[in-house]
Amino acid sequence: MADRIYNPNPELAKNAHCKSMEQYRSMHEKSIEYPEAFWGEIAKQFYWETPTSNDKFFSYNFDLNQGDIYIKWMEGATTNLSFNLLDKNVKCGNGDKIAFYWEGNDPDDYSKLTYKKLLQETCMFANVLKSKGVQKGDRVAIYMPMILELPVAMLACTRIGAVHSVVFGGYSSDSLAERMMDCKAKVLITADGVYRGEKLLLLKNICDDALAKVKAHGHEVESCVVVAHLRRLANPHGKTTAGDKKNGVNGTSNGGSSEPSVSWDDDRDCWWHEEMEEAEPSCYPVWVAAEDPLFILYTSGSTGKPKGVLHTTAGYLIYAATTFKYVFDYKPGDTYWCTADIGWITGHTYVVYGPLANCATSVIFEGTPFYPHNDRYWSVIDKYKVNQFYTAPTAIRSLMKFGDELVKKHDLSTLKVLGSVGEPINSEAWLWFYNHVGHGKCSIADTFWQTETGGHVITPLPGATPMKPGSATFPFFGVLPELLDEDGRVIEGEGEGYLVFRKPWPGMMRSLYGNHERFQTTYFDRFHGFYCTGDGAKRDADGYLWVTGRIDDMLNVSGHLMSTAEVESVLTEHQDVAESAVVSKPHPVKGQCLYCFVTPNEGRTFSKQLQDELKRKVREKIGPFAQPDVIQHAPGLPKTRSGKIMRRILRKIAIGDRNVGDVSTLADEGIVDVLFQLRPQA
Ligand code: WTA
Repeated sequence: MADRIYNPNPELAKNAHCKSMEQYRSMHEKSIEYPEAFWGEIAKQFYWETPTSNDKFFSYNFDLNQGDIYIKWMEGATTNLSFNLLDKNVKCGNGDKIAFYWEGNDPDDYSKLTYKKLLQETCMFANVLKSKGVQKGDRVAIYMPMILELPVAMLACTRIGAVHSVVFGGYSSDSLAERMMDCKAKVLITADGVYRGEKLLLLKNICDDALAKVKAHGHEVESCVVVAHLRRLANPHGKTTAGDKKNGVNGTSNGGSSEPSVSWDDDRDCWWHEEMEEAEPSCYPVWVAAEDPLFILYTSGSTGKPKGVLHTTAGYLIYAATTFKYVFDYKPGDTYWCTADIGWITGHTYVVYGPLANCATSVIFEGTPFYPHNDRYWSVIDKYKVNQFYTAPTAIRSLMKFGDELVKKHDLSTLKVLGSVGEPINSEAWLWFYNHVGHGKCSIADTFWQTETGGHVITPLPGATPMKPGSATFPFFGVLPELLDEDGRVIEGEGEGYLVFRKPWPGMMRSLYGNHERFQTTYFDRFHGFYCTGDGAKRDADGYLWVTGRIDDMLNVSGHLMSTAEVESVLTEHQDVAESAVVSKPHPVKGQCLYCFVTPNEGRTFSKQLQDELKRKVREKIGPFAQPDVIQHAPGLPKTRSGKIMRRILRKIAIGDRNVGDVSTLADEGIVDVLFQLRPQA
């Protein structure tokens, strides 16, 4: 079944922004051959205080042999992001349209924000930032839960040309401190705390630790603005709210949370709602240059030191807007939901910037898929009549475990497009998503991209692309992928190799903050003339691209190059397996061998028979050389809070090395000990 081709639903294709492969091919060709004309036409939909000129629209150097790498779009133009996302939409008569529905951790907590109100809150908070001395170019760190003040804070930065650096609310104080020091943040914005399921996270306390660490290293963050989020849960009728909020029946949501005590430094800390009371409701936008920095977002690097990926203004705007429109086939009136946390790039581009640039209505969800019950996602889709639903394979697999009864309890008939991001989606999960969530009538957009790419780069278009489960299919407009072999030779036709890009598209990163050298060596030194993704991919006989996973997750068993993802996909096809993670383990004869961690489905046992069946399956599906040496029981996997499996830790467990390093970013640190205990004795 996995080899079958799934055509777009003709009903959807009929009215889609891109209706056929012919249309896709001709648009793609134009975007590559005439980038100025293609993107220039799109740029006309936005407001430019100063226009760009045609000869300066696009310039770049991708080849270290020719000098330093640079990428510039729309040089000479000036604009303002918040103006394009808010003022423009309000002026067009969409002031009363809902920008965001907010769904809290507790189903009784919800609210909404119109474009008009979002503009007002943004201006007010921009004025608060100004009162704290924030100016154009200053960095503002943001460490917040998924609440409406988070997009408000980001947009307020863009209003005055400040550069935001959002740090995911699940990071430790060390990680937050490291990032604030690297970008020399002037202000930190946070909340008192948040509930994730039944777990209480006291964010302000983590910030206090981080701020102390930063100070000890000689940098001082001048102000910390705190949203009283827990307080308003405890006191729903208080005046601490962004948006028109209904919440906390009798003020006892989350089982009767009472006001938490928050430590305070009077010289540094202030409450968001108190500052907002005095703030002026309008703020003239600061016009910034097309290539002025918009935000920094840190992503992990192979050396351990995080990389501050830098995105700029004009190119990011047009790319976020265009990918959102075409990849989700968003139409006015649709309600869209992306489950990603805003603390990751997916949240930046596809919760905040892409949707607002299209005047979309979307859902922001604070909670987890499992609270209060394992059907929370399905109930939220039903509640808001969601049309486009964008989530991650790891979430799909963890929900598949509970079977399809929970899905059937809810009306999901409004869904048109399903999206997947973050890792290769195995065909089992794809088919479950397609059949049980999408009822066989939705397109699945398996979107390949990275923090560095700013937006989707390889993806199907829902009305055009015939889908193959597990393939991200074809490049988006402006993107020119190639596969290279070890020696940097371009692989034509069918084959497998390093996934690289030959040309910049508007939304790609421009540098690593404060370290252009590292930017050049990380992405442009391995193969001169190309941006190197660090991922492997293969092209099949029909030209479809299949991203096989990070090259660092590639392994070489007896001279055979293979990807861990490939093996994982076979393991998870077994009916008793919920999830798996494969790492390489050094082997005296083969060089490397496969060490597999397997999580059985609820109610299934991890037996010798299962291990044998899995080994046989891998042998059958990939080849005898791929037979795993070890299959270990894993009741859970070490994952970050965003759901990424930390293979670094699994590799340590595989070789029995207790020296696993920093585990503070794990959702559940306890799992590491459990996995060590379950290691099979050699
Ligand atoms: C992986 C997330 C296969 C890939 C947007 C990439 C994927 C890394 C896919 C970037 C996909 C993301 N198919 N692999 N559809 N989407 N990846 O920076 O390894 O958090 O390099 O950005 O995720 O992760 P990042």
